[in-house]
Amino acid sequence: MEKKFKRTLVTTALPYANGPVHIGHLAGVYVPADIYTRYLRLKGEEVIMIGGSDEHGVPITIKARKEGVTPQDIVDRYHKIIKDSFAEFGISFDIYSRTSSKIHYETASDFFRKLYDKGEFVEKVSQQYYDEEAQQFLADRYITGTCPHCHNERAYGDQCEACGTSLNATDLINPKSAISGSQPVLRETKHWYLPLDKWEPYLRQWILEGHKEWRPNVYGQCKSWIDMGLQPRAVSRDLDWGVPVPVEGADGKVLYVWFDAPIGYISNTKELLPDSWEKWWKDPETKMIHFIGKDNIVFHCIVFPAMLKAEGSYNLPENVPANEFLNLEGDKISTSRNWAVWLHEYLVDFPGKQDVLRYVLTANAPETKDNDFTWRDFQARNNNELVAILGNFINRSVVLTHKYFEGKVPAAGMLTDYDRETLAEFANVKATVENLLENYRFRDAQKEAMNLARIGNKYLADTEPWKLAKTDMERVATILNLALQISANLAIAFEPFLPFSAAKLRNMLSMGEFSWEQLGRTDLLAAGTQLAAAELLFEKIEDATIEAQLQKLEDTKKANQLAEHKANPIRENIEFDDFTKLDIRVGKVLECTKVPKADKLLQFRIDDGLGGRTIVSGIAKHYAPEELVGKNVCFIANLAPRKLRGIESQGMILSAEDADGRLVVITPADEVKPGSEVK
Ligand code: 2FM
Ligand code: ZN
Repeated sequence: MEKKFKRTLVTTALPYANGPVHIGHLAGVYVPADIYTRYLRLKGEEVIMIGGSDEHGVPITIKARKEGVTPQDIVDRYHKIIKDSFAEFGISFDIYSRTSSKIHYETASDFFRKLYDKGEFVEKVSQQYYDEEAQQFLADRYITGTCPHCHNERAYGDQCEACGTSLNATDLINPKSAISGSQPVLRETKHWYLPLDKWEPYLRQWILEGHKEWRPNVYGQCKSWIDMGLQPRAVSRDLDWGVPVPVEGADGKVLYVWFDAPIGYISNTKELLPDSWEKWWKDPETKMIHFIGKDNIVFHCIVFPAMLKAEGSYNLPENVPANEFLNLEGDKISTSRNWAVWLHEYLVDFPGKQDVLRYVLTANAPETKDNDFTWRDFQARNNNELVAILGNFINRSVVLTHKYFEGKVPAAGMLTDYDRETLAEFANVKATVENLLENYRFRDAQKEAMNLARIGNKYLADTEPWKLAKTDMERVATILNLALQISANLAIAFEPFLPFSAAKLRNMLSMGEFSWEQLGRTDLLAAGTQLAAAELLFEKIEDATIEAQLQKLEDTKKANQLAEHKANPIRENIEFDDFTKLDIRVGKVLECTKVPKADKLLQFRIDDGLGGRTIVSGIAKHYAPEELVGKNVCFIANLAPRKLRGIESQGMILSAEDADGRLVVITPADEVKPGSEVK
C-alpha cells in the first residue's frame, strides 16, 4: 500500500562553490526539483525546498592555491554567483545557504560526535604521503608522478589520465608533491571509517526490496554497489579546509567533504526553521526526496542513509529521482574545458528568457538516459512550441477579446457539440499531469501541459471567431469565453514549469488567487472581468542569435585545442634508429574480458601470427569487451613484459586519445595478416 505523508522535504544537491553553475546543473537537479516543489505548493501542501553551496573539498583548496587566495575567498565568490543565478532562474528555494556557515559547522560536528560516541566508526591507521616541506599530508590529487602502467610522467595520485588506470598514490614512480615539488614521504595517519559493510543487509532490504519503484538507473546503480559488497569508508581527511574532526588527537583533520555536505541539508533546514526543523527530518509523516545527478547516487542512496541510520533518529529518503547527464552539442559538459552554457552568461545573452531555457531543459530532461542540448533544438522549441503554440494561442485569445469586447471576458452562450468535444479533451489534463509529476516524470508532464495549449490553438483555428465577428457575435463571445478559460487553465498548469510566463499570463487575465485544484474548470474567469493589455509571452529567436552561440562554442573548441597542444607539445625529434627499435605489429583480438576488481583494465588474447599472446590494457572505460573481439589492433610487440594485477602483459595496444581523454584503438584501414609489421 502506498504510504501517506503529511509534508514533503525536497533537498537539492549542494553544488561545489568552485565555479559558476551551467545548464547541466539546472537540467539535472534544480529545474525538476523546482517544478516538483512549485506543484506541491500550488496544491496547498506543506513543502520546503532546501539548497546551498558545498564549500569544502580538495578542488576548492587547489583553486585557492593556484590563485594565491584563501579557500574562503573562492567559496565567497562562487556562492554569490551560484545563488544569484538560481534566483534569476526562479528556483524557489526556501533557503539557499552554505556549508561554511557556523550552524553547519556545529551540526556536522555534533553529528560526527554522536556517531563517534555511539561507537559507530572504526579507527584505522594507514600510510599516506606527507610533504615535509609544506608540513602537510597530501590528498591524492596533490601528488604527481610516473604512471607504472604507461609511464606517463604527469599521472595523478588517484588516476593516470593518459591510460585511464585508477591508481593509489603509492603506485606512482617518482612521486612529487604538487605543493612544494619535493618528494613526499610515507607517514602513518589515523582516520575514522563508517563501516558500510555493517549496514549492507539493511540497505539491501530497504532499497532492493523496499524501493523497487525507484528509477531504474538509481535502483540499478544501488544494486550493483550492494552486490559488489560494501566496504568501510573513511570519513575524515588530513586537510586544513573543512569541519574539524571533533575528537581528541585529531589535529589537522577535517570531516571528509562527502560526510559534511549531506549534513548541510540538515543545517540549512535548521537555519530556516530553528524551532521546527526536527519535524522535517524525524517525523515519519515527512517524505524526503533528494534531487541529484547520477554521479551522486551512491552518496545519497547508500552512504548518507547509512549515516542517518547510524545516528538513529532521522528519516531516510522516500525517493531519489536522480537524472543522467546533459551533454552540450554532443560533448560532455566540462567546467575545466569551458564546455558549458553558463547560467550567468545566458542571462546576459538572453535577458528575460529564463523560461525558454527552463522549457527546453525540461523538454530534453535526461531522466532516463544522457541527453543532448543543442542550440538548434533550443531555437526550434522556442519558435515552434513556445511561440507558435502557447504564445500564439494566448495572444490571439487576449487580442480578440480586446478587439471585440473592449477587453472584458464575454459571457458564453449555448455550447456546440464541437465546444463540448474540446472541453472533454482537456478534462483529463489535471489527472494526467498530476500523475506524471508525482512519479517524477517532468518531461512528459510538461508535454501534457503543452497539449492543453495545442487543444486551444486548434479550437481557435477551427472555429475562426475573426470570420464570425460580422455575423454572429454571440457565437464569438462563446468561443472567446472558452478560449480564455483554457488560457486561465494554462496559467495554472504552467506555473511549475514556466513561472515567469505563467505570472505574466495571470496578470494579463486579471486572475487573483489560484490553485492547482482549479485546473480543468471552465469558470475560472467570470464574465465581465477586465483583461490587462495583451503582452507577448515569447518571441521568435532568429538564426543569427543561434549562430552567435555556436560561434562562441567553436571559439572555445579552438582555444581548447591550442591549450591542449601547449600542454601536450610534440616531443623532441628522435633518430631513425630509435624508431626502428619499436616493433609494432598487427594482431587480431581473439578474446577480451574484464579484469576482475580493476574497473579500467581489459585482458586480451591476441593472435599475433606467432602463436598468440596476452595483453592487458587500460581501456575498459571506453569499450565493452565484446566490441573488440574480432578487431585488428596495433600493438607494441617488443615491450618488456610486465605484470598488471597479477597478469603478465606481453605488449601494449595502441590507442589514440582525444582532448577529453577518450581512447580509441588504432586499427588498420584494411584486413591484414596477424603479425604484419607496422612501419
Ligand atoms: O557533486 C557535487 O556537486 C556535490 N557537491 C554534491 C553534494 S550533494 C550533498 F551531499 F550535499
Ligand atoms: Zn598511465
